[in-house]
Amino acid sequence: PIDPNFETNRERVGEENGVTVWGPVDPPEQLGIHGTHVAVDYDICIADGACLEDCPVDVFTWVDSPGHPESEIKVEPTHEDQCIDCMLCVDVCPVDAIDVDPG
Ligand code: SF4
Ligand code: F3S
Repeated sequence: PIDPNFETNRERVGEENGVTVWGPVDPPEQLGIHGTHVAVDYDICIADGACLEDCPVDVFTWVDSPGHPESEIKVEPTHEDQCIDCMLCVDVCPVDAIDVDPG
């Protein structure tokens, strides 16, 4: 599962699609964690899509991740600022790739 303490255990390495990326990254095989309030571990995500389908406020957008061993698309929390902390995405992800910090 995603490390809920990634903000202390990992370093910010940049930004993609307006979203903070937490390393380590070594593309295309290792892509790190994307997002802060709504965080998706790209190295765990298998592109199930339940998070994107169930989010009531459309926080997620599909992005391409060609060459990644788990899946060749991922969900970017592009609109994480709109999150209402319903925790649905956290509950439905089959591989526990998402962390949401309420408050
Ligand atoms: Fe969307 Fe709810 Fe997940 Fe926030 S916690 S990203 S509102 S599904
Ligand atoms: Fe990925 Fe889990 Fe969503 S596998 S697409 S973060 S439901």
